[in-house]
Amino acid sequence: MTASEPVPLRIGVVGAGFMGRQHIEVIRAASGADLIAIADPVPPDDVAQDLPVYADATAMLAAERLDAVVIAGPNRMHVETAVACLEAGVAVLLEKPVAIDYAEARRLVASVDRVHGRLLVGHHRRHHPAVARARAAILAGELGEVVAISGLWSARKEDAYFADTPWHRLPGAGVMLINLVHDLDLLRHLCGEVAEIQAMSSSHARGLEVEDTVSLSLRFEAGALGSLLASDAGVSPWGWDQATEETLAFPYVPDGVAYRIVGTRGALSVPNLAKYAYDPSVSADWRSPLSRTYLSVAPRGSFQAQFDHFVDVARGRAEPLVSAEDGARTLALVEAAALAAATRAAVDVERFRAEIDASEPA
Ligand SMILES: NC(=O)c1ccc[n+]([C@@H]2O[C@H](COP(=O)([O-])OP(=O)(O)OC[C@H]3O[C@@H](n4cnc5c(N)ncnc54)[C@H](O)[C@@H]3O)[C@@H](O)[C@H]2O)c1
Repeated sequence: MTASEPVPLRIGVVGAGFMGRQHIEVIRAASGADLIAIADPVPPDDVAQDLPVYADATAMLAAERLDAVVIAGPNRMHVETAVACLEAGVAVLLEKPVAIDYAEARRLVASVDRVHGRLLVGHHRRHHPAVARARAAILAGELGEVVAISGLWSARKEDAYFADTPWHRLPGAGVMLINLVHDLDLLRHLCGEVAEIQAMSSSHARGLEVEDTVSLSLRFEAGALGSLLASDAGVSPWGWDQATEETLAFPYVPDGVAYRIVGTRGALSVPNLAKYAYDPSVSADWRSPLSRTYLSVAPRGSFQAQFDHFVDVARGRAEPLVSAEDGARTLALVEAAALAAATRAAVDVERFRAEIDASEPA
């Protein structure tokens, strides 16, 4: 550390399971932060040998002087833990989903507002350089006006995922809330708010209570239409996890596509950033040859980029790229999709949120 560099942030991790361990690796590799302690009632033996371990976040906050925490415990403890940290003046990186439902997420939003808390939600895909480049292309009008977007995520989860963990078999833990929540958050980030949603869901492939396959139709406020298909029962190379090298546990398919964005002047697939456009010297319509060029970006891991951004948020140098309000809105969209699937009727997303806002005080 040189004289001009700030003192490293003192960080605690709450929940050292699958996701907490990924965060721990990133923190240990980061230069702007020191990992100080872990809170987990059952920490894995190998992660915490050199660190104090507490049974929960309350005990850790009482014993340690922390600047920030990463919360990666079960969803049901997210809001309560995040609020306790914010009220202690500690910055929070909170894993998704921010809460178990939108009504509870509003408590978190209210707490952030009340204490002017610094909180970043762990929708890490937004930090991927291809996403930033795609968003810049859309905002700069490089595709013309966006008219449609299509997304697909499908991978076959192992049978033990459902057999060994009872809550994975129950409604709320299906492909919608576990996986599609990321795609919906990213589509909000790329194309703006969703005004209306229709959905079909199925548990046909696995025969469990929880859904394994869903199909969504979206109408964005800006006018574009979208379709999203997801399944955790079907083998496929298509989806964010296969198209990026973010999670080493999953196979990487180079040049892969998770989303196709269609504009009046060009099309873009993400995250491979292949851009298609007609040759303007011929004509600006389907009679013209199509060119394909790849937009260029410097490679960067989303989790590292997310953590660097979190350090800036914690130091008060940046507004969060994914705020508590964002996390709550994405969660509301998942719930609206589930309602649309259950009722087989289109759901007006703003009215859906407004009814919950009116019925339950935050
Ligand atoms: N961003 C992503 O892509 C991504 C991927 C997977 C999971 N997640 C999220 O990360 C969170 C954790 O998921 P996971 O798959 O790592 O679960 P996990 O079950 O592997 O780990 C959870 C850990 O929390 C601990 N824990 C339980 N109660 C606790 C408490 N009161 N205080 C502190 N620790 C407690 C458990 O002992 C366990 O070690 C979830 O919110 C999940 O949605 C995000």
